[in-house]
Amino acid sequence: MAHGTMLLLLISLTLAVGPAVGFYGGSMTFTPGNRFPDGSVEMHFYYRESSRGPCGSQVNWICESGSCGVLTNTEPMETDSTAQHLWCQSEVHMATNVTNGPFILSSSGCCWEDNVQGVGGWTLHTHVDTSQRSDTRSPNRSPVSAAIPNIRIPQNCFQNFQLLAHDPDDDVVRCRFNDANCTLCHQHTNIHLHKESCTLHTGDSLALGVHVFELILEDYPVSNITVMDHNGVFSVRNAFNDSNPTALSQVPLQFGVEILPPAQGCVPGVNKPSFLTPTPLHGDVHHAAVGQAHEITLQAQIADNSIFDFQVSGPSNMSKTLTSLSNGVMMATLTWIPQETDLFRHVPVCFTAETLHRQSEMRCIIVVVAKARVLSGEAKVICDDNSISIVVSKASMDGIDQDWLQLRDPTCSLTSNQTHIMGTMSLDTCGTTMDDSGDFIVFKNEINSFENPNAVITRRNQVKFGFSCQYPKIASVSNRYVNHKSDYIFTESSFGTFSYSFEVFTDQTFNSQVDPSQYPVQVQLMDEIYMGIEARTALPEVTLFVESCRATPEDNPFSAVFYDIIKDGCVMDETVMPHPSDSTKYDFEIQAFKFTGGFDEVYISCSVILCAKDSPNSRCAQGCLGPAARRRRRDVSQETARHYITQGPLRVARQTHNSAASNDGGFLHMSTSTGVFAGLFVVSIAVVAGMLVYNAKRTRSVDRMHLLSTF
Ligand SMILES: *[C@@H]1O[C@H](CO)[C@@H](O)[C@H](O)[C@H]1NC(C)=O
Ligand SMILES: *[C@@H]1O[C@H](CO)[C@@H](O)[C@H](O)[C@H]1NC(C)=O
Ligand SMILES: *[C@@H]1O[C@H](CO)[C@@H](O)[C@H](O)[C@H]1NC(C)=O
Ligand SMILES: *[C@@H]1O[C@H](CO)[C@@H](O)[C@H](O)[C@H]1NC(C)=O
Ligand SMILES: *[C@@H]1O[C@H](CO)[C@@H](O)[C@H](O)[C@H]1NC(C)=O
Ligand SMILES: *[C@@H]1O[C@H](CO)[C@@H](O)[C@H](O)[C@H]1NC(C)=O
Repeated sequence: MAHGTMLLLLISLTLAVGPAVGFYGGSMTFTPGNRFPDGSVEMHFYYRESSRGPCGSQVNWICESGSCGVLTNTEPMETDSTAQHLWCQSEVHMATNVTNGPFILSSSGCCWEDNVQGVGGWTLHTHVDTSQRSDTRSPNRSPVSAAIPNIRIPQNCFQNFQLLAHDPDDDVVRCRFNDANCTLCHQHTNIHLHKESCTLHTGDSLALGVHVFELILEDYPVSNITVMDHNGVFSVRNAFNDSNPTALSQVPLQFGVEILPPAQGCVPGVNKPSFLTPTPLHGDVHHAAVGQAHEITLQAQIADNSIFDFQVSGPSNMSKTLTSLSNGVMMATLTWIPQETDLFRHVPVCFTAETLHRQSEMRCIIVVVAKARVLSGEAKVICDDNSISIVVSKASMDGIDQDWLQLRDPTCSLTSNQTHIMGTMSLDTCGTTMDDSGDFIVFKNEINSFENPNAVITRRNQVKFGFSCQYPKIASVSNRYVNHKSDYIFTESSFGTFSYSFEVFTDQTFNSQVDPSQYPVQVQLMDEIYMGIEARTALPEVTLFVESCRATPEDNPFSAVFYDIIKDGCVMDETVMPHPSDSTKYDFEIQAFKFTGGFDEVYISCSVILCAKDSPNSRCAQGCLGPAARRRRRDVSQETARHYITQGPLRVARQTHNSAASNDGGFLHMSTSTGVFAGLFVVSIAVVAGMLVYNAKRTRSVDRMHLLSTF
């Protein structure tokens, strides 16, 4: 009876609270603050919780074991949400004075958001040790991670999902499933967690709906250290090794991933929003200063769709303003003014760009809060095609020894005037390093110096701040025309940024290009088509080399169905007539053709290379190479990588005028001149595979006869 009343009471209480709340995950980080004369340490905890429905209503951290002191917490502050209460995230700051570690805090609740695995309850654990480390002379700081509240991935696009695994003490961080109580880990048998990089992989497709991930992050010292507890008792903590099970701390990272119905593709910029410069890269570390606004600029774009928001997991009081730029680019400016209490925090900030149905990759960065303004990089970085320039105001370098400023390569000099310090370096000098980050190439360098000695600190702390320029590997300049491909832009260390245009022209003067609005370009069989490739680069002495061009019936240079027009630098199609031009241009004409098998459209894809002029060993200098030619090692300073550029489609109409070629319903007669019937060829799929590829010894004109068929 009493039991029944209790239950009723509980139900009515739940109803009173309002609409059901689904837990979408949570993450915790902690960091020690002041140490007091009585030996107690103030520990600070930052907990972010995601939910569907009202924000932050579920916070109930309790002391599970050990002496946790008296935990005080701020009200949960909403950090990001949707107007419709679809999701929301909040952050809570908790603090406690402790004299006696270690201890465990925990929080639990009844209700994960409805999920595929049928998981109901959730529990988060945080293992803290306040002993003083011999290497940092301070208690351990936990690993740092976070996730946005509502992660959405189409079923066919969940291959790799990289999480943030940062450690303020530079410890080794390992991620693992929460398998102390292995009721959940078994439900992810088809997902592999790469412990070192904290990346989820799967080759399988996950069921539609929300999947629950309950991860733990642990940190281990990189070298053997000792830790001293409040009684002055030392113990050894061995450097991380695979048989070393004792972590310095444990923090939870839980999140849900909503698997959406399959998308047409997973290409950033086309099927999902893609981030543009100057959006920070995953894992970047920013420096902010107390009392000063720190801005993070995000930009993203997607073809044929619009980005309406950026989802953000950030510290409380971080604001977000959206600005719509030209060409469908959406920009978000995240602004945060760290307070005195934020000093020395390593704050995770994660973000995605959102359309109604799609989400970009999730990136996470770290914002480190410092006192010195120079660490927040009050510098202007100018990214040019081939160089990086940096201008730093001297006023912002208070407390920094300006006599010792240097780039990563100390032989490169910085210049200065009364107010500023300046440096310019090309992308491959002065110790600039290059990182390939998927869609972008990033060039990074840093300015190093020392803090000025003062009365209190006698050791010379090295200070450095990094700067970088990132360039998209490939970017569409304009998305105005669905069919017409605009310029291709690439960046390489020795060649800077360069672009290719690939156009169809109206006549053999190659002066007026077919208007992009006219795509797909209608052509008649037998018509001459005029195509031109042009490289644009700031470097004066370069040569364009067209290594291959192939026709495909779809917009994919690697299509199974293809016809080689130029291969290994050799012209394969007898109707091709190159028109000599500048060294950075390749103009040619070709007679129109068509694929058999219900394909109306033809795309032309070419692989192109830029070389330094007059470099005798470059691919450009070698020209046409037979199939037996030896593969050379590419000299990256002499030539670029091979890049694929595509134009099309050409829509080839059936021939309407009389042809000189006789067509007897089967193959054309060998006696017909190739010059005449070449323009008529209709490439048969089977023949391409069977004759062209596997029977390379045949002469070209014999092949051509077999390629021709009726249409
Ligand atoms: C910890 O102790 C100090 C000094 O006694 C006090 O100022 C501070 O408010 C305490 N912090 C917490 C979280 O109780
Ligand atoms: C696992 O969880 C169940 C129920 O939540 C609990 O009864 C059990 O003690 C847990 N086991 C371990 C090893 O923590
Ligand atoms: C740490 O100590 C262990 C023995 O306790 C030793 O085997 C190991 O080499 C040491 N590692 C380092 C990095 O010094
Ligand atoms: C690995 O760690 C264990 C446990 O701390 C320690 O006993 C062992 O010596 C370490 N092994 C190496 C090769 O460092
Ligand atoms: C957030 O901003 C408000 C008003 O500017 C301020 O009163 C509050 O202390 C800030 N909270 C945090 C956690 O910084
Ligand atoms: C120093 O150079 C910077 C960057 O070129 C410029 O903005 C500034 O006005 C210069 N200051 C003086 C005093 O010339």
